[in-house]
Amino acid sequence: MSKHDAVEVIIAKRDHGELSDSQIDWVVDAYTRGEVADEQMSSLAMAILLNGMNRGEISRWTAAMIASGERMDFSHLSRPTADKHSTGGVGDKITLPLAPLVAACGVAVPQLSGRGLGHTGGTLDKLESVPGWRAALSNQEMVDQLESVGAVICAAGDGLAPADKKLYALRDVTGTVEAIPLIASSIMSKKIAEGTGALVLDVKVGSGAFMKSLDKARELAETMVALGTDAGVHTVALLTDMETPLGLTAGNAIEVAESVEVLEGGGPADVVELTLALAREMLAGAGRGDVDPADRLADGSAMDAWKRMISAQGGDPDAALPTARETHVVNAPSSGILTRLDAMAVGMAAWRLGAGRARKEDPVQAGAGVVWHARPGDAVAEGQPLFTLHTDEPERFERALESLEGGYDVSADGASYEPTPVLLDRVG
Ligand code: URA
Repeated sequence: MSKHDAVEVIIAKRDHGELSDSQIDWVVDAYTRGEVADEQMSSLAMAILLNGMNRGEISRWTAAMIASGERMDFSHLSRPTADKHSTGGVGDKITLPLAPLVAACGVAVPQLSGRGLGHTGGTLDKLESVPGWRAALSNQEMVDQLESVGAVICAAGDGLAPADKKLYALRDVTGTVEAIPLIASSIMSKKIAEGTGALVLDVKVGSGAFMKSLDKARELAETMVALGTDAGVHTVALLTDMETPLGLTAGNAIEVAESVEVLEGGGPADVVELTLALAREMLAGAGRGDVDPADRLADGSAMDAWKRMISAQGGDPDAALPTARETHVVNAPSSGILTRLDAMAVGMAAWRLGAGRARKEDPVQAGAGVVWHARPGDAVAEGQPLFTLHTDEPERFERALESLEGGYDVSADGASYEPTPVLLDRVG
């Protein structure tokens, strides 16, 4: 006889009860082993979405998900470790310049990343556009690269929080992704199991993010910071804007190219600002707040670390990046100031061009995506290129253009333009 049964746990949460430690440990473990069925877990996930969990329940749920798999340990490395996690946004390529930059400052970055699903891109999909680069590393290869290069971006192995892998796939198809307790425990179980010493969370806010309002984003950030801190990981969160997409590109190879520009000392100002802000937090969390990452960007050492990081995983950092076979240019409809550029509209367009996938098993196009030639606040002239769409399959242009419709405004005098800062708040 089991200690509990799934219906008892579901009813407890359905009726606004607090789940006991023993109920949580049992249900997460039994679900991972297949004893609790998908339909029972989806019912429980919906009850959690509707009725919430308190801090104690979220903490226990996170611990149970960590306990479902292996826990990595980098405490024997010769340098401290720090990682960053973004809740996902459009044009969010920050991990690419950030990991080598922080490594160049003397802190190792063990970054386990994912692939994109829906309108937000995945770091692994972007890096796989670099010829030869491979995402799969063994734990030993990861440790060796952290010692030799100081930065690794690779796929999380199956051994890390398997309960989350199963539950996340279920939430994706049952309308239960948006529950704050489930998002917080999902992200933090993986990051705590990954074994980083310090963690900086980039919690996105706005149309292109999971969290559309600052209040909800702050609640998620506070929940995750508390979980990390309780687990002994130095954790802080930055709340950052995702009403407007980051930089000037959304796609795969085109985002790698923009990241390389940042490492060369150029690149869009918002991408540079956010990269440096996150780097400073990671360094401070790892006890290296005395190092200024702007110096390492300027002196080329971050670029050297990028090249070594790419080469160590089989990639050729000097090879030409793939380009899409077809392009289509959208011109500015009138002269004035670009007052709004909607992250969701751009993300959907990039996705429809083939940069993202609809199902986990779909391939992505390396060269597909959207380049925008102006950012909110910039002056544009009628007829000048505003967007360039890239894809291998021209039949995709029509649907991508539909996504962009209503996704931007050009105003003659710019009177309605209100600049939004990239950095909105800090928790921790
Ligand atoms: N990212 C995750 O890893 N988990 C979630 O639940 C949401 C975003």
